[in-house]
Amino acid sequence: MSVLGLDVAVDLGAARTRIYVKRRGIVLDEPSAVVRDAMTGKVVEYGAEAHPDGGHETCWPVNAGLPADGELTRRLVRHFLRRVHRRRPFARPRLVMALPEGATPIDRAALRDVAYEAEARTLLLVPHGLAAALGAGLPVKDGAGRMVIDIGRDTARVAVLSHGAVVAAGTVPVGGRAMNLAIARLVEREHGLLLDEAAAEDVKRRAGTDWKPLHRHVIVRGRDAGTGRERAVTLPVQLIYEATRQPIETVVRAAVGTVERCPPELVADLGERGAVLVGGGALLRGLGRRLRAALCMPVRRAEQPLESVALGLGRYVEDLSLVRRLKATVH
Ligand SMILES: Nc1ncnc2c1ncn2[C@@H]1O[C@H](COP(=O)(O)OP(=O)(O)OP(=O)(O)O)[C@@H](O)[C@H]1O
Ligand SMILES: [Mg+2]
Repeated sequence: MSVLGLDVAVDLGAARTRIYVKRRGIVLDEPSAVVRDAMTGKVVEYGAEAHPDGGHETCWPVNAGLPADGELTRRLVRHFLRRVHRRRPFARPRLVMALPEGATPIDRAALRDVAYEAEARTLLLVPHGLAAALGAGLPVKDGAGRMVIDIGRDTARVAVLSHGAVVAAGTVPVGGRAMNLAIARLVEREHGLLLDEAAAEDVKRRAGTDWKPLHRHVIVRGRDAGTGRERAVTLPVQLIYEATRQPIETVVRAAVGTVERCPPELVADLGERGAVLVGGGALLRGLGRRLRAALCMPVRRAEQPLESVALGLGRYVEDLSLVRRLKATVH
């Protein structure tokens, strides 16, 4: 097979990295985490959130779709791509990645460095909102205005598209993790119980962010802040609704601000067509309903919200001629 058949897309997420390979689809979906030996700093594992043995630290080198720790991100992506290409060690892929809206020339250079380290022949940068909308199945080429909201680990991104381009965008530093922290703070304040991130995530998924029916409760297990012993409490779901109010309002404000920056002729379209939710946050029960009420527009979830960005980038992998029709930049 020719090396040209090896083109790949990498959705570099703060929580997970997803890799799409031409004609194969998404072949890798792993935590964007690196486990290091706490003493020597030597990397012992890529793509794992924790190590069973003590004396290790987990690093999350990606933030808001960009390398926060350049060195670790480059090594992480190189490692993942080598795994994907294990049968063809000399593969030099054409790489497609998402470019966050508002990225600076320095951010582009950081992504170029990732591609260089991965021995890519070329790097194609697709606006993040465009990738998300394509992956969510939105018909982006016509002139109608469409909104996509991506709620990831630490970032929520709103983009309005028309004629195949992002015409307005907004980003706020809240995502699934901010909601976990809000829940952990609530449980500590109300019950003196400490929850780690995984426990808070579990409560969030079980409870959702809706509070109906009124009598719904969830059982929460954690460590007593005083005695250190494990203890369980019953928490009304209504409290979780209250605790997640602030991060959700931040997302709503980002969406409203983006609509305000839109060309006025598109605003009516948005009210009618509404927004599509992607990213892990889209799976949170009740969130769509809350956003719909706050934004006064229809809000629906994409079919595969976790994979939408990778699938959208994958459209370019399958058909590089898309570049001529939809805005993206080759490096
Ligand atoms: N089933 C679920 N229910 C509720 N929340 C979920 C679910 N699955 C994932 N999440 C949330 O989604 C978040 C991760 O989403 P996603 O995988 O889209 O992030 P990412 O793409 O790695 O991050 P980013 O786009 O911010 O760089 C986590 O914070 C998690 O809390
Ligand atoms: Mg993402």
